[in-house]
Amino acid sequence: MAKLEAKDQSSKIKVQRSKVLNIVGARPNFMKIAPIQREMLRRSDEFLPLIVHTGQHYDAAMSESFFADLGIPEPDHHLEIGSASHAVQTARIMIAFEQVVLKEKPDWVLVVGDVNSTIACALVCSKLGVKVAHVEAGLRSGDMSMPEEVNRLLTDRISDLLLTPSMDGDENLKREGVAESKIKFVGNVMIDSLFFSLERSKNSNVLEELNLTNKEYAVTTLHRPSNVDKRETFAGILNALREISAKIPVIFPAHPRTKARILEFGFDDLIKNSDIKLIEPLGYLDFLRLYSGSRLVLTDSGGLQEETTALGIPCLTLRENTERPITIELGTNQLVGVDPGTIKKSALEILENPDTAAAKIPPLWDGKTAERICDALLDAKK
Ligand code: UD1
Repeated sequence: MAKLEAKDQSSKIKVQRSKVLNIVGARPNFMKIAPIQREMLRRSDEFLPLIVHTGQHYDAAMSESFFADLGIPEPDHHLEIGSASHAVQTARIMIAFEQVVLKEKPDWVLVVGDVNSTIACALVCSKLGVKVAHVEAGLRSGDMSMPEEVNRLLTDRISDLLLTPSMDGDENLKREGVAESKIKFVGNVMIDSLFFSLERSKNSNVLEELNLTNKEYAVTTLHRPSNVDKRETFAGILNALREISAKIPVIFPAHPRTKARILEFGFDDLIKNSDIKLIEPLGYLDFLRLYSGSRLVLTDSGGLQEETTALGIPCLTLRENTERPITIELGTNQLVGVDPGTIKKSALEILENPDTAAAKIPPLWDGKTAERICDALLDAKK
């Protein structure tokens, strides 16, 4: 009996591990959660991590392929929300996620980035009194017309632990009056996935399939509503890309939203009569192989600004602002806006000057951020 009791005692000690719901919803979430889930599983005496997929993104190319490429386990809960207006999508996620939280009773819910799934899940927890950790906290573009800026601000305001990718995040949060004890600079977790996958991405034959030579092509991605939903803005960007493609082929994996607009606006002919190559969205490893071998990237993505900085690849950001200023200060990023003349001029300058100054990798973008995130969660428990 005594023996049994002793055994019970020791298993009780083991049960003290933190149960964490790791939330994914949209494409840019998968590469951030993958290293965190892996690290928590490695430290399974300290963590019990579960994956919750809201289903905000659902096409195989936008979701499933990332689970496979990044080795993320099957979701423990799949909410299957899908596309809808912002209000409907956010509300549906909240209704479904509340049931998961009530059932699982987690110690922590961990949300990443700035998509609708991020704020929806954080808000559910704040109402239920469950602790939320926000990875990629503190980033600010200052542009409240971006849905992501609203999502970031609100998520940070209601999170218990704010895990920042760069020191500008800490400064923004302090300026907003957040208690310093809640803020922890951990570095950029997306770069964990990048370094983890770089070697494996070399097995991809995407360059051969697209008939490309290393460093002799450019890559573009566009999906911001402000760029692709307005006919004139999108036409201007495409015209700049057409002119750039006269110098170097431009590979354009198109997001479903972007593809829909190209058809709606009748831009497919514009693209066909150029050296812009429109392709389907790629999986994580193929896309990593593609941009890591490129001469230049032109994008409105947040993540790609960081990934190109980590690899020292010139990047032109086709936006008027960025929430990732460190990629400009230290990295390879330039903010060029959406004026076609400026885009073309900046691209040609890069193509004509192969010896641009070496960029620096920002502090703590070292592939070990997931470890620091786990440590921070345990510290916050003390
Ligand atoms: C979302 C994020 C954005 C992120 C982007 C990455 C918000 C507010 N926006 O934008 O921050 O940079 O993901 O991709 O959360 N669609 C499909 N299949 C899919 C997913 C979407 O066809 O698997 C189409 C649908 O027509 C949908 C549209 O894309 O209505 C937009 O999807 P949504 O998730 O609302 O926003 P994104 O533009 O993808």
